[in-house]
Amino acid sequence: MEKKVSKIGVLTSGGDAPGMNAAIRAVVRTGIYYGLEVYGIVRGYAGMIENDIFQMESRSVANIIQRGGTILKTARCKDFLEPEGRKRAYENLKKLGIEGLVIIGGDGSFKGAQIFSNEFDIPCVGLPCTIDKDIAGTDFTIGFDTAVNTAVQAIDKIRDTADAHDRLFIIEVMGRDSGYIALHSGIATGAENIMIPELKTDIYEIINTLQEKEKRKKLVNLLVVAEGSELGGANEVAKVLKSKMTHADIKVCILGHIQRGGAPSCMDRVLASRMGYAAVESLLTGTNINTMIGLVNNQLNYTPLDQAVKAERTIDFEWLKVVKILAS
Ligand code: F6P
Repeated sequence: MEKKVSKIGVLTSGGDAPGMNAAIRAVVRTGIYYGLEVYGIVRGYAGMIENDIFQMESRSVANIIQRGGTILKTARCKDFLEPEGRKRAYENLKKLGIEGLVIIGGDGSFKGAQIFSNEFDIPCVGLPCTIDKDIAGTDFTIGFDTAVNTAVQAIDKIRDTADAHDRLFIIEVMGRDSGYIALHSGIATGAENIMIPELKTDIYEIINTLQEKEKRKKLVNLLVVAEGSELGGANEVAKVLKSKMTHADIKVCILGHIQRGGAPSCMDRVLASRMGYAAVESLLTGTNINTMIGLVNNQLNYTPLDQAVKAERTIDFEWLKVVKILAS
């Protein structure tokens, strides 16, 4: 096989997600298996600009498949949005002879990769890695399964105490622009209702339903709210509910960044390993370069970076109907 590259770089960028380390491991080990030199770029695009780049060995990625976070660190880099920053990054790669990049991150990271690969002769392959699952061209992103299971475990615990006190809990999960964690964790924990950024919520309908349930002596209720819901986060929603349901015992719990950490689930480790391996094969053979590797119907799927950053992932609103019916 004619190798199209002999030195590649790997970086993690944007918000971290469980499974980033498993993806780095897959890239490094596959690259070394094929006789490539693999370079780790520290703190994403920032490390590319600052030349914080080091050669990785098989042992560099030992004992990390089970760890959350990212051994390469991650950052959101404003300088990479500027042509000057990208030029410096390119010069640093050139000095080291790096001929291809694997970008592990979310859509912001892919936008950077898309511009960079258009401007310079460095092919890029993106691996979708975000707890938000808000990327088109893939059924799952690395990190989502772990994050949503963390949320489910936490909400189950809240249900215990909510039940003991007959309380209404408003639980805020992550998702500034995306309702997937709320949708999945809400269904899995039997939430009363779910509020997500993608859909306008009729809070008065929710209040009516809660009051009607109160009459039927259903006093334990969980509302799962994405942090970026149209009404705001859990505190904002609680304010409205408290003003209309003055006698109800209402509590708020914000799960926050615990959803980003922890050991990746089996599913995320497998996804990261398959995608990391496929990314190196793409760079090596020159096929499917400048794409994002996704998983569709359990098959690897390649979406050109320019399409991956433009397309929006759409929520199936019927899921919300399921929530309401099952919570009756
Ligand atoms: O990783 C995605 C995400 O969790 C969003 O849902 C959230 O709004 C954002 O990251 C917050 O990230 P940070 O705290 O790193 O700015």
